[in-house]
Amino acid sequence: MTMLLQSGLIMKKRVAVTKVLVTGGAGYVGSVLAPMLLKQGYSVRVLDNLLCQRSNLLTDFVYGGLEFIKGDIRDAQVVRRALEGVEYIVHLAAIVGEPACRKNVTLCRDVNTGGSRLINKLRRPEQKLIFVSTTSIYGDADGALCAEDAPLKTDTDYAVSKFEAEKDIQIKGNYVIFRFATAFGISPRLRLDLLPNDLTYQAVHMKRIMIHEPQFKRTFIHVRDMARSFVFAIENFYRLKDGTYNVGSEEMNLSKVEVALRIKNKIPYELQFVDTQDIDRRNFEVSYAKLRDKGFESRIGLEEGIEEVARGCRDIRNQRPFLNEEFVS
Ligand SMILES: NC(=O)c1ccc[n+]([C@@H]2O[C@H](COP(=O)([O-])OP(=O)(O)OC[C@H]3O[C@@H](n4cnc5c(N)ncnc54)[C@H](O)[C@@H]3O)[C@@H](O)[C@H]2O)c1
Repeated sequence: MTMLLQSGLIMKKRVAVTKVLVTGGAGYVGSVLAPMLLKQGYSVRVLDNLLCQRSNLLTDFVYGGLEFIKGDIRDAQVVRRALEGVEYIVHLAAIVGEPACRKNVTLCRDVNTGGSRLINKLRRPEQKLIFVSTTSIYGDADGALCAEDAPLKTDTDYAVSKFEAEKDIQIKGNYVIFRFATAFGISPRLRLDLLPNDLTYQAVHMKRIMIHEPQFKRTFIHVRDMARSFVFAIENFYRLKDGTYNVGSEEMNLSKVEVALRIKNKIPYELQFVDTQDIDRRNFEVSYAKLRDKGFESRIGLEEGIEEVARGCRDIRNQRPFLNEEFVS
């Protein structure tokens, strides 16, 4: 809208920019999400303690509107400062994945449940929270199709820590809870401990893939679709408000061996089955109908992710800096 001044000059009226707090914004998902929000015209404040030892957002400072706070979500003073003036909170910060959580169970509970509760408690009622949970809570479901009302079927520290936080958030209201499939694909902060990325790395570098429990069913989403779902949640907040949604695609409800065979279509390697039990007992299919009915669908297939990870990791010889459990002591 413009205002005509008496002098005859045209002055542009300032339009307030929506500010989004992204906790854990320097991580695998956050470092894809932050630039996506900035490109869409949002102002972004990232709160991250850089557990993974480096910022992956440096090039995003070319966009005005990015602010970075190095701090811990368990610190009330830091969280109060981070919440100032924000309309939306995308809460990603966590100890992610069961291997990292198992390594330090106290840290996992303190950050994933305690830190989430603190953010939930300190946000003002009108500040909208998008909480990031996981389909891992459906756990050992014997391959069954799980919708959002399926019970918690696991006792893993990671899934339980997320589920406990969900309960707290639901009591306060003004939230959207997203339970994501396992992500794959390239990010400025690559993770090679995610099943499709891990198997692709094995195919490229070892020329063989070893899998336990090949028929166990898992579910997947590309990291850019994951990021896009947050933009969708912000733009459709009132339609999704106070709901819990699985985010992924039924087309990517795949067994471990099916993922391995999709990789074989792109990269030659030898497939080996390991005859011992996998300690990761996740075995489920997930229904994504609820969020699809609201208008969100994944767009990027597994093949595209495999190809980009293969290209990206050809020159990576040491996998360790890309595994989450390496950063937890
Ligand atoms: N990647 C997946 O496959 C997947 C699937 C389902 C859900 N999720 C959820 O998405 C979110 C992001 O996952 P990701 O894959 O980007 O993991 P990530 O480990 O790459 O990112 C987590 C980020 O949180 C930060 N962090 C950790 N503890 C912190 C603390 N105490 N204070 C401030 N920052 C802290 C880390 O420095 C890191 O940048 C997590 O909540 C995870 O549970 C991820």
